[in-house]
Amino acid sequence: MTYTLTTPLYYVNDKPHLGSAYTTLACDALARFHRLCGEQVTFVTGCDEHGQKIQRTAEAAAVSPQQHCDAISRSYQDLWDRWQISHDAFIRTTDPRHQQIVNQFFARVEASGDVIEGRQQGWYCVACEEFKDDAPEADAPQCPIHQRPLEWRDEVNLFFRLSRYQKEIEALIQRPDFILPISRRREVENFVAQGLRDFSISRRHVPWGLPVPGHDGHTFYVWFDALLGYLTALLPADAPAELEQLAAHGWPAQLHVIGKDILRFHAVYWPAMLMSAGLPLPERVFGHGFLTREGQKMGKSLGNVLDPDVLLERCGRDAVRWYLLRDIPFGDDGDFQQQRFTDLVNNDLANTIGNLLNRTSSMARRWFDDSVPSAAGARDSSHPLAVAAEQARTDVIAGFEAMDFRRAAEATLQLAISANGFLNDQAPWSRMKQDGQRDAVADDLYAVLEATRWIALLLAPLLPDLSARMLDQLGLPPLPPGGPWLPLLSWGQLPPAAPLPEPTPVMARLELETPL
Ligand code: MSP
Repeated sequence: MTYTLTTPLYYVNDKPHLGSAYTTLACDALARFHRLCGEQVTFVTGCDEHGQKIQRTAEAAAVSPQQHCDAISRSYQDLWDRWQISHDAFIRTTDPRHQQIVNQFFARVEASGDVIEGRQQGWYCVACEEFKDDAPEADAPQCPIHQRPLEWRDEVNLFFRLSRYQKEIEALIQRPDFILPISRRREVENFVAQGLRDFSISRRHVPWGLPVPGHDGHTFYVWFDALLGYLTALLPADAPAELEQLAAHGWPAQLHVIGKDILRFHAVYWPAMLMSAGLPLPERVFGHGFLTREGQKMGKSLGNVLDPDVLLERCGRDAVRWYLLRDIPFGDDGDFQQQRFTDLVNNDLANTIGNLLNRTSSMARRWFDDSVPSAAGARDSSHPLAVAAEQARTDVIAGFEAMDFRRAAEATLQLAISANGFLNDQAPWSRMKQDGQRDAVADDLYAVLEATRWIALLLAPLLPDLSARMLDQLGLPPLPPGGPWLPLLSWGQLPPAAPLPEPTPVMARLELETPL
């Protein structure tokens, strides 16, 4: 089975921020999950490099647009390397192969009779790269998102005949799994119900764009070109840059993960463009929510933007991934709160999971020859921790399948809570002092160590680093990214009598003295 998923292609007007890291981390966890399940995954990310916004940013910095794009897209690639993002393709829309794909796609759309000339009049937001049909009535209206003045545009350019796809789009958005979470479907339904209007796909005075073949003086509207980046990204360097190749390289995508602000482009414009070009449609579009910080919108002017590099340096990958994916229901808006962040990381990861492994392995080493106790009884699948582990596995899989990272994280944590509870009830430290209890203690420690092996495995998609450290601490080999994974999730596979390495804490506590 193949599984193609994409992040948005990030604008290179500025360096990466927490919002882009959020989407990318979530996609990384999903990609890892599907690979572990044995699927052939293509995880696409990249940069959207054309358009007026980028042209102006480069002008303001007194560099050429290409130099500007090279620098910022490099910073994205470096950032994803530092975060160990497991993407398979990184597309830059300034890649020369992309132009070939755009030209072929446009030729198909034109041949379908879907390109017409029209007059575009309206208020435009350069930051959104979008006409604001619902601009407030005023002499100098502002963009409701960016709080910046809108610019009046009046020009003749090329339009895509979106209006012809009204019926098809209405049917598409009613498919149960096309737009997720389901709560976001309503806003798209409302938009479509107003009647789809043709939209302009070329610009006359934006030199920083791909030229439209056969239409001198026109460059493609940045969104027309950007969405096609999802296609170009899939074509390996040694394959011809041809639309006909896509079926062999993972198109259609199973999933586009995006922020809620760009849902309309992905759930309405993009499918219609694909229909016009005779290409299959993505299976699903997931619009996640927006992150705020301590209750406030993040923005340069407020000086409260969370820099993913600072987060990484001060907190580490596991902590940030855990907090963002465990605490914020994926799909809802979320608020980054430093106190809650440190509390969750310290309680869940350092205490509940980390200490569990540490103390159990220390006891096993002390009393059982530096190794996993040999235990007959605890390897039975009717053991209470085996039952808890089975439940956790079911919930983790269901969580990932529903893109409910919180459910997957909580299920894993619940297994650690059960194992801690079991250990406290059995109190091996007291029983070890009693005669005839050694075998029972061996059983109990085995069961808890086995539960920590499950926790390590279940954490692999969400927290690959912590998962690897836990397996290492248990004396087990690293988990290959492509599995096998599910076959390891059967109770009693921890080898009895295997040596246990000297324990070191697998998860450091977060001590943040100053604001991030
Ligand atoms: N270039 C377009 C996407 C083209 S896809 C073919 C774009 N780029 S973007 O860099 O502006 O935004 C990328 C994503 O980041 C969007 O999905 C947006 O929703 C998301 N976020 C921007 N700020 C965010 C938060 N504060 N919180 C969460 N996500 C946010 O749009």
